[in-house]
Amino acid sequence: MAKEKTIYVCTECGGTSAKWLGKCPSCGAWNTLIEQVAQPPAGASANNRFNTPFAALGGTADLAVLSEIEASDVDRTPTGIDELDRVLGGGIVPGGVTLIGGDPGIGKSTLLLQAVDALQRAGQNALYVSGEESGAQVALRSRRLGLDHSQVQVLPEIQLEKIIATLDAHRPAIAVIDSIQTVYSDQLTSAPGSVAQVRECAAHLTRFAKASGTAIVLVGHVTKEGALAGPRVLEHMVDTVLYFEGDTHSSFRLVRAIKNRFGAVNEIGVFAMTERGLKGVSNPSAIFLSQHPEPVPGSVVMVTLEGTRPMLVEIQALVDNGGPSPRRLSVGLDRDRLAMLLAVLHRHAGVACMDQDVFVNAVGGVRISEPAADLAVMLAITSSLRGKPMPKGFIAFGEVGLAGEVRPAPRGQERLKEAAKLGFSVAVVPKANAPKKGSKEIEGLTIHAVERIEEAMDVVRRLD
Ligand code: TYD
Ligand code: MG
Repeated sequence: MAKEKTIYVCTECGGTSAKWLGKCPSCGAWNTLIEQVAQPPAGASANNRFNTPFAALGGTADLAVLSEIEASDVDRTPTGIDELDRVLGGGIVPGGVTLIGGDPGIGKSTLLLQAVDALQRAGQNALYVSGEESGAQVALRSRRLGLDHSQVQVLPEIQLEKIIATLDAHRPAIAVIDSIQTVYSDQLTSAPGSVAQVRECAAHLTRFAKASGTAIVLVGHVTKEGALAGPRVLEHMVDTVLYFEGDTHSSFRLVRAIKNRFGAVNEIGVFAMTERGLKGVSNPSAIFLSQHPEPVPGSVVMVTLEGTRPMLVEIQALVDNGGPSPRRLSVGLDRDRLAMLLAVLHRHAGVACMDQDVFVNAVGGVRISEPAADLAVMLAITSSLRGKPMPKGFIAFGEVGLAGEVRPAPRGQERLKEAAKLGFSVAVVPKANAPKKGSKEIEGLTIHAVERIEEAMDVVRRLD
């Protein structure tokens, strides 16, 4: 195939250069030029483009009035793996492009092989493009997963043009590209896995999906070093972005929808990695609790609401004498927010950790981004600092502001009900989340409503 001309485009200002330069000739930014296939505008050469009357640049296109466009509901095919369908918003959509990101070894290939096999058994033709493993390795995994007599077609290939030609010839209902970082196009001189290659290949595959109706799933590794060539650069191109979370040392894995043009975001699917692949966990509310027989200092359970399901997660803190520049570390929680909460604790509740190392951790490798974790984090830190455990059956949630105010969390009633269902008996929550006076109480749960962080500290002290 004849090579098309490539140019280098600046990611900052859009300026172009015929050859690669370290510094953009237009805006002067460093390391921003990325190789792209040059596409001259139809009907005009790049040079005279702006001297041409606008109508000559290309034909006009038809317009449609919004209210007259028929809004047909998207037609989805369930994969048959309930927890995956939940994050996809019901199933795969013809022509839809999904990106699944996650650390190496977390279970992306396993889940997708299970999903395409289930689809194939349901009569949808599935094609698995394996760029990382040979056909034999994929077969070995399918045996391990107990997928006997699987009819899924496997294509061990990494060259984009060949992959697209094969997809075009077979027109499967779903194709998995495992992984997008291994695919390369002949049109670019950059190495496979580089930003330029990953972007160009994903763009071609997306165009193919839209034109053919084949649903495409791109697998992307999150690279430890800033994820430069990782899935992040593709998020804007695709319809759905899913990320795998979880600690590879624990068996639980979460799949979270970050973006979904066909469904709700922030929905999560919960899986357990077993001997025979990933199994859905349909009732995950209690899996992120470590089982202490007796309460220990520095541990507070919170109720987080992930998508549509409340889950109980244990927050642990360890506060210990630090050196001249004490450390603040968090796993599964935002570090900047931790610094802010420590400042609020000091200023409004008189709890000083200036000369202490502070570590906080959300148990089980779960990541909590909602501010409703604030109250639990602050109580866990205080508990560790004082060496005093929380009472048995204690939970807390609520956002804490810079002025020390405790703000409500969305859907507080659901969170409280889930805690009561799992046998928790004492809750400290924002006032607006507590049941209103005169309304029905939540059985088995004593609720302390607070409006300020100082109040929350007082309540806890009185509970001792
Ligand atoms: P894999 O799907 O290869 O991860 P990724 O594609 O995200 O890199 O999963 C690899 C891990 O899962 C590996 O450590 C082995 C484990 N595993 C099981 O525990 N059970 C199984 O049935 C399979 C297939 C893998
Ligand atoms: Mg893999």
